[in-house]
Amino acid sequence: MNLVPSDRPWQDVYQILADTILPRPIAWVSTLGPKGERNLAPFSFFMPVTARPMTLAFAPLRRGHSPELKKDTLRNIEGSGEFVVNVVTRRHADAARRSARFTSDADDEFARAGVTAAPSLDVAPPRVAESPVSFECVTHRIVELGDEPGGGHLVIGRVVRVHLADDLFDENGGLARGRLEPVGLV
Ligand SMILES: Cc1cc2nc3c(=O)[nH]c(=O)nc-3n(C[C@H](O)[C@H](O)[C@H](O)COP(=O)(O)O)c2cc1C
Repeated sequence: MNLVPSDRPWQDVYQILADTILPRPIAWVSTLGPKGERNLAPFSFFMPVTARPMTLAFAPLRRGHSPELKKDTLRNIEGSGEFVVNVVTRRHADAARRSARFTSDADDEFARAGVTAAPSLDVAPPRVAESPVSFECVTHRIVELGDEPGGGHLVIGRVVRVHLADDLFDENGGLARGRLEPVGLV
């Protein structure tokens, strides 16, 4: 079969993207709200982009049927221009899933997910201490795509600092891929 996406309900089109562009890694994004509330949420519409400048991108979609309702992650990044992308590993997959639940703004989502907030060095949002890789980012650009349900934003971040756990390195000082054990959607 073939189809024209604009002829279909956005939910069907979303499902095609989500179920065919696989496997996908997960960005576990930490931000700070206007009153300093710690926010954490997973995003699988996520990719590395360039090495110099070092950039990555992820896409917070509008929340369900309400086109006005931006996800907290996006609102916080629009407000502060800073975020941290943490890599999710097998040990913390459940915590990442817990942090996807919609909660009130006042909640500390690190505490709710059961992970530790470690201070970042160059941005205000904390990183996830348990995550072996964290990218401290400042906003390079936010591109709005569509103003209806099913639309959202592409957030492009410039990485200003990378945290890499010592045990990710092999005896020659190179990154040993097998040691990361990332989780993604397959
Ligand atoms: C594995 C996984 C991947 C997700 N990927 C995305 C995504 O790419 N884009 C998106 O808008 N929401 C995604 N979500 C849903 C958000 O994490 C969820 O809406 C969350 O409540 C947003 O939190 P926030 O309002 O604190 O930003 C994903 C959820 C899970 C469990």
